Amino acid sequence: MGGFAPCPPEAVAAAAIICGPVSLTKITDRRGSAVWKAVGPHCGVAIKLGHGADSEGAEITAREAATLDALPDYTVVAGRSGADVWYVTPWLDGPSTWDLFQPVRDGSDVRTAPLAGAVSLCRAVADFHSAGWIHGDLQPAHSIHTATGVRLIDFAWSWRTGTNPWREFNGGITHLVAPELAEWITTGPQPVKPAPAADVYALAGVLWTCTTGQWPLDYDAAGITVKDTSPADLRKAITAGIPLTAARPWPQVQTVLADVLTAPASDRPTAGELAESLMEVAP
Ligand SMILES: Nc1ncnc2c1ncn2[C@@H]1O[C@H](COP(=O)(O)OP(=O)(O)O)[C@@H](O)[C@H]1O
Ligand SMILES: [Mg+2]
Repeated sequence: MGGFAPCPPEAVAAAAIICGPVSLTKITDRRGSAVWKAVGPHCGVAIKLGHGADSEGAEITAREAATLDALPDYTVVAGRSGADVWYVTPWLDGPSTWDLFQPVRDGSDVRTAPLAGAVSLCRAVADFHSAGWIHGDLQPAHSIHTATGVRLIDFAWSWRTGTNPWREFNGGITHLVAPELAEWITTGPQPVKPAPAADVYALAGVLWTCTTGQWPLDYDAAGITVKDTSPADLRKAITAGIPLTAARPWPQVQTVLADVLTAPASDRPTAGELAESLMEVAP
């Protein structure tokens, strides 16, 4: 594709209505989805654009905008620019969970903030589940620890129980897909409906990844070279079972997480129960 997509003037105009005249900073542009931070005199917003030759990026961004619109804690303005879809939503200030765990990965003993952040993240996911939602793509960068609490982002694969599921769901980031979900995606039938338990697996996987700096599964031990393995084959291997990575830089927390990551879906704790278990860990 090459280069960063241009930001649609319609989206810049929508941001300016909210913030005043904005200046843009490029954040990411990958797989048909570009994000800018737009800052004006009054506030900052995120602009997200779904683009690309096939309409998939646009469709994903359109349904993410619909999800943001349905969530009481979020606001969104959305529109089209030709075949592309954009939305504008307030910029959330604060470190991601990945950022918050940097001291843990650096070997620091000061772990109070990461532990409190982990508990808050679990509670945010529990609240999301209580409202009937499944996030579907929890990742280390998809939670922002703001001054007023943890906010989830990137609802591209989120689904509200009881509503029509997305036509096809591929499980979010493959490294954090729960084994039972990997199996369902492999064997069908579509549409796959992710369960809260799959989010809890991904949640534990996020915290494991933020702690160790590595995805939770020991692909080397299973003889898998990730870069030579398709997501479909990776999901088959995840279904068959891959051991957890060996490093234990934070054993008290990782023992709790390992129990979640190795439990069958029916025995997995809820996100709220995971918060409780983490609260019992001394920082
Ligand atoms: N509302 C927001 N507030 C703060 N940062 C955001 C916001 N939306 C997106 N970002 C930043 O942009 C990055 C990419 O956004 P994301 O929605 O995950 O897009 P992608 O489709 O590329 O995964 C996030 O990891 C985060 O750093
Ligand atoms: Mg994302």
